[in-house]
Amino acid sequence: MSQASRSHLLFERAQWVMQACEDLGAISQSPVYVDRRYLTKEHKAANSLVMTWMKERSMRTWEDAVGNVCGRLQSKNPNAKSLLFGSHLDTVVNGGKYDGMLGVIAPLALVDLLLEDSTEFPFHIDIVGFCDEEGTRFGSTLLGSRALTGKWQREWANLQDADGKSLRQAMQDFGLNFDAVDDAKLDSNSLLSYVEVHIEQGPVLEEKNLPVGVVSAITGAKRFNISLKGMAGHAGTVPMANRQDALLGASEMVLAVEQCAIDYEVVATVGKINNSPNAVNVISGMCEFSLDVRSDNDQRRDAAITEMTAVFENIAKHRALSLEITETHQAPAILCSQSLIRQLGIACVSAQVAPNDEPFQLLSGAGHDAMAMAEICEVGMLFVRCDKGISHHPKESILVSDVQDTLAVLQAFVMHFEQSIQ
Ligand code: HGY
Ligand code: MN
Ligand code: MN
Repeated sequence: MSQASRSHLLFERAQWVMQACEDLGAISQSPVYVDRRYLTKEHKAANSLVMTWMKERSMRTWEDAVGNVCGRLQSKNPNAKSLLFGSHLDTVVNGGKYDGMLGVIAPLALVDLLLEDSTEFPFHIDIVGFCDEEGTRFGSTLLGSRALTGKWQREWANLQDADGKSLRQAMQDFGLNFDAVDDAKLDSNSLLSYVEVHIEQGPVLEEKNLPVGVVSAITGAKRFNISLKGMAGHAGTVPMANRQDALLGASEMVLAVEQCAIDYEVVATVGKINNSPNAVNVISGMCEFSLDVRSDNDQRRDAAITEMTAVFENIAKHRALSLEITETHQAPAILCSQSLIRQLGIACVSAQVAPNDEPFQLLSGAGHDAMAMAEICEVGMLFVRCDKGISHHPKESILVSDVQDTLAVLQAFVMHFEQSIQ
């Protein structure tokens, strides 16, 4: 194939990726913004669309025991191991069209390039669209990828969504069985590596004026639910000195989170808060808020959490509030595979997207399914520049030329993928 034809094919496939992200982005439980949650009819519709795209590429397809959608471009060797690409298809509320989706759709376009060249591989090329990474509906996270690693906990059956429906019931309504989730567990011996393409969700590549970068490590995260109980009361009659105001306690704690994060050089976020009874003339009797703490250094993250906990206890004590802290998620910081970092770097050089032939490496502040997959195989990630680093927001956007570069890197990576990792 001539250079011009190859370049045209890359651009044309990059345009398909952009359109496919639009098509998936239109599948939402909201008519006005992107909102696709686990075990909903939107999840079913997204799986069906991705499965159609996989079948159009002669891939064998299946939906696994937790609702991940999977496809395989079969090697002629039936006993071959798999090189797995993937990311998640669920979204945050009012999210973007590329967070997760790009990592499922770009590998589909890669398959087009490989089929165009009728290249034979000694390994299967698998693609997985994980069903729940964000944890939007049930509060926990990485549910899809953790099913592949066999790490689901029995007690998750009782996780509830905002309507009080349990994970077990929602799975049954979706046509799945919580007691069969272990069927989704992968045999790690069948897996060569997992590679995830994802938007950076940060400003670094844009600052460096680079289309892509190779991820060196993914920060570890811990999430909590903080519950405060005080005493609801009449806004007009209870003297200020006699109040057990749960919302005021939470307010002090939220500001303390910010200060601790700065002091310990971690990132910490209170994203959700529920106040009750949440009435204009009633003193808050109960207040719950989420806490998400991250760092590339697990020890520093845990030291910050210890300090936050001590401050919370002190605030609760002097405001006569009862305090309950529940850990809802934890994922250790993970290092990406040195071999995959090297191979993705070589592919960046080969695709001429590494200035001075020096591939750019960067840390991921966001969590990804690769954190779960690292428990069973070597993982690598390729970040794609996104406009102003915006993500978890409708203004999330990428350039078609960066997708073109991404496809060139992926193709170079697969063409030279070594099985030396196993
Ligand atoms: O929260 C995260 O880092 C990811 O977007 N789920
Ligand atoms: Mn996300
Ligand atoms: Mn994501």
